Amino acid sequence: MDPWPPTRENSGVLAEAGMNLWILQTRPSGLVEPYELTRLREEARPMGVALEAVAPEEIDLIVSRGGRRSIRRCGQEVDLPDVLLPRTGSGTDYFSLAILRQLEHLDVTVINPSDAIEAVKDKLYAHQLLAQRNLPFPRTMLVRFPVNLELVAAQIGFPCVVKLVVGSYGNGIVLIHNPSSFKDLMELVSSLDRSQSLILQQYIGTRPGEDLRVFVIGGRVLSAMLRRSTDGSFKANISRGGDGEAFAINSAIEKLALASAAAVQLEIAGVDLLFDGEGYSVCEVNSAPGFCGFEAATGLNVARAILEHCLRRQKGENGRQVQPTQQLARLN
Ligand SMILES: Nc1ncnc2c1ncn2[C@@H]1O[C@H](COP(=O)(O)OP(=O)(O)O)[C@@H](O)[C@H]1O
Ligand SMILES: [Mg+2]
Repeated sequence: MDPWPPTRENSGVLAEAGMNLWILQTRPSGLVEPYELTRLREEARPMGVALEAVAPEEIDLIVSRGGRRSIRRCGQEVDLPDVLLPRTGSGTDYFSLAILRQLEHLDVTVINPSDAIEAVKDKLYAHQLLAQRNLPFPRTMLVRFPVNLELVAAQIGFPCVVKLVVGSYGNGIVLIHNPSSFKDLMELVSSLDRSQSLILQQYIGTRPGEDLRVFVIGGRVLSAMLRRSTDGSFKANISRGGDGEAFAINSAIEKLALASAAAVQLEIAGVDLLFDGEGYSVCEVNSAPGFCGFEAATGLNVARAILEHCLRRQKGENGRQVQPTQQLARLN
């Protein structure tokens, strides 16, 4: 399975892999399959991996004594896969989590584990886990109404970033420049639906509109990509039209990305780092990182690296242990 990361030229055909893999993925709203699923299918075939995309809504979850090694899918009793790869990310709802827990209970290897997916979906809880490991991240505060403006000014300062606790693609995240706009926003929010929790975060403005996406798989850093917004926004998300380019990792980036993924117990993680002075701060850790922009920017074969990790874990190898980054491989 080596070298790491795999290339299309050097990785060879693994016709004997014999792994049944399910990808848990919400059915796409349009006709076009997500890029990640297409790439995983492409790479699975020559590896001898039988891959099926399964939507949570196809599963009937029946909990009973005895732990039968099967599950109901599309109205029929079917065999369990060897490995389940959830790609529901921050959209993982209660129903999907229940499926993941059930399969974990029935000894299916679930990558990433349900606990870790649930933990990072909550941006505040993810930061609490990072804090336990003493990792650097922007000072963060949970909003409580009525908002104490003096406390916010003293603890977080301005400009500050306001975020929905659950979200992705840069949605529900705004940069507030001064106390007066902050007050206006809080008045608006408090008059709307208060069931949505918000966090306030210190704005890290060392390199506005830029951040780093570091891809971690099984305790190893695959590579990093510099993301840059193209519309003047402070948000660098590629899904918002940001640019991506390969970025040479150093040991500080490698250590921080690996420690962040380990802190939240993710085997496959997209770790976002902000440039902070001379160092880095963790912005967030994603459980189902997209890799369209990443493969394009770095030329690496992310799909193959993910599948190889699944194979290693199926064979019972501990994919979480940290290993040094080896030769970087490229897509042709
Ligand atoms: N505290 C911050 N300081 C500076 N930029 C930030 C901060 N938080 C987020 N950003 C920018 O906004 C983007 C989106 O924020 P993030 O928390 O990753 O939300 P999402 O889950 O929607 O991607 C980040 O990639 C980064 O470019
Ligand atoms: Mg993000």
